Amino acid sequence: MSSDSDVKSRLKALYVLINDHSHKYHALDAPIVSDAEYDLLFQELLFIENSNPQFIDKNSPSQRVGSKPLEGFKKITHLEQMLSLDNAFDGNDLQDFDKRITERLNTDECIEYSCEPKLDGVAANLLYRSGELDYASTRGDGKVGEDITHNIRTIQSVPLKLNNNKSFDIPELLEVRGEVFIELKDFEEINKHSKKNGLKVFANPRNAAAGSLRQLDPKVASGRPLKFFAHGFGSVNAGKEKFPQLQSEVLQAFSFWGLPVNPRSGLVKSIEEGIAFFNKIEKDRSSLPYEIDGVVYKVNKLSYQNTLGKVSRAPRWAIARKFPAEVGITIIKSISFQVGRVGSITPVAEFEPTIVGGVTISHASIHNFDEIARLDVREGDTVSIKRAGDVIPQIIRVDLDKRPPNSKAINVPTKCPSCSGPLAKEESEAILKCKAGTNCTAQRIESIKHFVSRNAMNIDGLGEKIIQQLVNLKAIDDPSDLYGLRKEVLVELDGFADKSATNLINSIKESKTTTLQRFIYSLGIREVGEATALNLSIYFKSLDKIMSASEDELLEINDIGPVASHYIAGYFRSKEGLDLLDKFKSCGIVLENPVGNADLKLGDQIIVITGSFSNISRRQLKEELIRLGAKVSSSVSSKSTILIAGEKPGSKLSKAKDLGVIILDEEKALDLLN
Ligand code: IVH
Repeated sequence: MSSDSDVKSRLKALYVLINDHSHKYHALDAPIVSDAEYDLLFQELLFIENSNPQFIDKNSPSQRVGSKPLEGFKKITHLEQMLSLDNAFDGNDLQDFDKRITERLNTDECIEYSCEPKLDGVAANLLYRSGELDYASTRGDGKVGEDITHNIRTIQSVPLKLNNNKSFDIPELLEVRGEVFIELKDFEEINKHSKKNGLKVFANPRNAAAGSLRQLDPKVASGRPLKFFAHGFGSVNAGKEKFPQLQSEVLQAFSFWGLPVNPRSGLVKSIEEGIAFFNKIEKDRSSLPYEIDGVVYKVNKLSYQNTLGKVSRAPRWAIARKFPAEVGITIIKSISFQVGRVGSITPVAEFEPTIVGGVTISHASIHNFDEIARLDVREGDTVSIKRAGDVIPQIIRVDLDKRPPNSKAINVPTKCPSCSGPLAKEESEAILKCKAGTNCTAQRIESIKHFVSRNAMNIDGLGEKIIQQLVNLKAIDDPSDLYGLRKEVLVELDGFADKSATNLINSIKESKTTTLQRFIYSLGIREVGEATALNLSIYFKSLDKIMSASEDELLEINDIGPVASHYIAGYFRSKEGLDLLDKFKSCGIVLENPVGNADLKLGDQIIVITGSFSNISRRQLKEELIRLGAKVSSSVSSKSTILIAGEKPGSKLSKAKDLGVIILDEEKALDLLN
């Protein structure tokens, strides 16, 4: 590209093109080019910007993620207070609301309302100055919030610059109010990924969105699929004529300017129509891609809103009708005791199937025996059941008035319901355990279930019922026996035909070739989840080395503490563990490589981390190093090859210097990762 002006004009054209495609993709869900075409434009942008950094605009699509995490959150005072909403719980409440409004406005006119799904997300305030995103903040206490500009900028559907539009002028200053949220499918993905990597699992999409916005490092938010819908404004400084006069026009203007708005919002001519709107949304609720907790009704005319004003923290011109809580009422059929993989006894209540929040449920586990005592729940009781998000259903209350006569309190069991072995209290008084290990049929079944599960050996077509039958028929005793199963045995089982038996035999055979990490995880050693299994396999690289590691050696490994190291070393010294491993060896299990396809360029390094870091968390740094094959150890010794020293490194630094260990600062460590 020849002259500066050519470069500038191509950049400008690319900004417009990319922003337009991005808006169509992220805000309208209606892309007009393929991902590959979009990527090509973006690559061209990066290429030109790299060679001409002096022309990079701060609103360029490449500048969404800033380079450095912040030190802390700055406080931002909202120009106009962020209000909350009064609630309505049924149609009558809405009619009362409508009546109050007509009386106050002293009119016979039928009031029009903008009806908007009430998203269950996190409220945000975005300040645009001359159409450019200046800052963004949380609601805080309604008057002062926290600066989350760095995270809001990472949301692809939020325009950094508003589009000009003929119908409505972009105000000189505009506080846009809206909701940041995460779609249900994305939320499930985040949690799946977190579970797999031993990270924090969020209780619901709202918490996941709030957790992402509360990060100082914009890289975290940029990795989370946050979305935004604008639904109102706070302070506005506009040329009078061309600013919307109606809430429905506000939403339209937002959309023209490129701000995403909820396509399910609608305008109704009366509160009766508003009630019908609610019924329709309630019916469609379970098919929406995000969680909503009701419908917001806003008087459509902005001049009426002005007249009506507010009372303390809520406007008189708006109300939220909430969906009824996701609680169901049912009758307990039975309370039984389940035995888990390591022998924990959990009370499980089975009840008449009932629909809660759109899902039919028929049983709930009760945390422990203290919980049974607290609720005093009994067979035959009428109970309220709550279900929130993907959380296991929970009994929240017993209706004592409906308790049948002669009902008996639940006794804490004294014998294992499966093997009749003695039970012992462990950890806390509330947890009971059967200590019989694999001598207990229930625990044997659970450990085989774990062995075949998706993230372990991933044997398809071997569900709980089949395992139960096989164990009860004594066709298998432990997981290694699966590899000797014959088709003739399977075809005799309930629900098996020739084809399904062949398929199962094949998937058992296929599972013989696996990774060391999966195999270690599948053994079901206490305290060894997927992340620990990964650490073990990367550190030791072979099963034999893991088997011979001492408790002290195990303690050297990232994230393995004294409890886990005790269980791991114990397992590989127990007769039971060693017998099982011997059996596996003769089945022809092939452990391909430690972790699958990870790039192990740091495979020879034993790295110690000390001090704190500004561009990466210690945890992240550790994880990245492990992914690249390094052993991350907690203390400096003659075996250490690298010490990564952040701020305030402490005594490890001098020890490493004494031992001649290579020392890297944060910047060099990040280079190493790249
Ligand atoms: S309007 C003055 N509209 O609900 C009106 N709020 O319980 C203030 N919310 O803090 C809010 N969807 O975070 C409004 N379409 C919508 C909304 C909505 C979700 C949230 C918002 C607010 C909370 C009030």
